[in-house]
Amino acid sequence: MVKIRTKLAERLGIDLPIFGFSHSVDVTAAITNSGGLGVYGIAHDPPDAVPGKLAAIRKLLGDRPLGIDIMMPKGMPEDETLENVRANLPGEQVAYVAGLTEKYQVPASTKKTFFNSVLRTPSYFEGQLQALLASDTDLVAFGVGLTPDAVSRLQAQGKLVGALIGSPHHFDAYRGVDLDFIVAQGTEAGAHTGQIGTMVMVPEIVQMAGDLPVLAAGGIGHGSQIAAALSMGAQGVWLGTTWLSASEHGHGDHAIGDKLRAKLFAAGSGDTAITKGSSGKPQRQVRSAWTEAWADPNAPPPLKMPFQHALVGELLTAIDEHEVDPLLHSPAGQGVVWSKAERSVPEIMDDLAEQTAIGLKQGIATLEEG
Ligand SMILES: Cc1cc2nc3c(=O)[nH]c(=O)nc-3n(C[C@H](O)[C@H](O)[C@H](O)COP(=O)(O)O)c2cc1C
Repeated sequence: MVKIRTKLAERLGIDLPIFGFSHSVDVTAAITNSGGLGVYGIAHDPPDAVPGKLAAIRKLLGDRPLGIDIMMPKGMPEDETLENVRANLPGEQVAYVAGLTEKYQVPASTKKTFFNSVLRTPSYFEGQLQALLASDTDLVAFGVGLTPDAVSRLQAQGKLVGALIGSPHHFDAYRGVDLDFIVAQGTEAGAHTGQIGTMVMVPEIVQMAGDLPVLAAGGIGHGSQIAAALSMGAQGVWLGTTWLSASEHGHGDHAIGDKLRAKLFAAGSGDTAITKGSSGKPQRQVRSAWTEAWADPNAPPPLKMPFQHALVGELLTAIDEHEVDPLLHSPAGQGVVWSKAERSVPEIMDDLAEQTAIGLKQGIATLEEG
């Protein structure tokens, strides 16, 4: 298989500068075992569940590098409980969610999930961080938010630490933090996202970052885009949506049901929408009756994070559990267009590597220097 070297890839000892974000243990491990670097997102794992997840990935990886992504959004309430927040939600929003439940005949959920049992609080994040500090994780990325203290504590343990940003303002905000890499994520990306396109932001952040390695993210699902990202000065790419089509989800801990898979495979590049309806922050998802419901002019404004979560967590869990169409959805980026069928992670990686090599070798232009 082709190997593509960049300084950051060499530092990590990986053959391909392809970083893959996933909430699935099996998918994450398969990405690393296929030559890239899998990064497991612990956002949905309560602190006491994190050590078990890390151990499960480590078992599959041997001594290959283990990457973790943690979200530490600012401004979460300190001394709150989910029950208390739920009891005090505003009536208009509660009535709207009850109306959706009724309209789409969503049965009650029977499962306990992150969405219906967790309130994001600083102590939840601190607990997750403690678990990472006690682990042999090699790389940690901060998704939404970070604290300089958390970064330096992780680095003191020898971990490589980076952060996702969605704008040059975020980069400026992190200037005082001694990060090891930056992920410049354009608006095309699945899940929480900003407003600037990947093609515009990557070279801008590469210029701002100087020697700090930058990874490009957002809408990337074909190797020609990876070649383009490397040409723009990125030292690699960070992909999320691509892995939703991985067959490893089927038997993993984070299975994706057939109906959702079909919806993702049918989606084109124009079939995603940004909504605050799931978490309270702008999140790109495959378009569905859920995204439409929150874009409706008659909808009440979504609440802020983490209150929107408390409002809709029960319904989101039920929609997933009972595969309720047309509300069924998932975070997904515009690059969903590149995933038209279920494939294994090694197959996806092979294709990406081959397409990248073609892109790097066969520039469409010829150069005449004079
Ligand atoms: C289903 C899904 C869940 C995600 N969850 C998180 C998360 O918990 N933390 C995070 O930092 N990024 C999360 N992301 C964003 C990815 O880390 C990545 O930046 C993004 O997917 C890249 O753009 P792409 O989706 O176009 O490949 C998620 C993305 C997807 C598709």
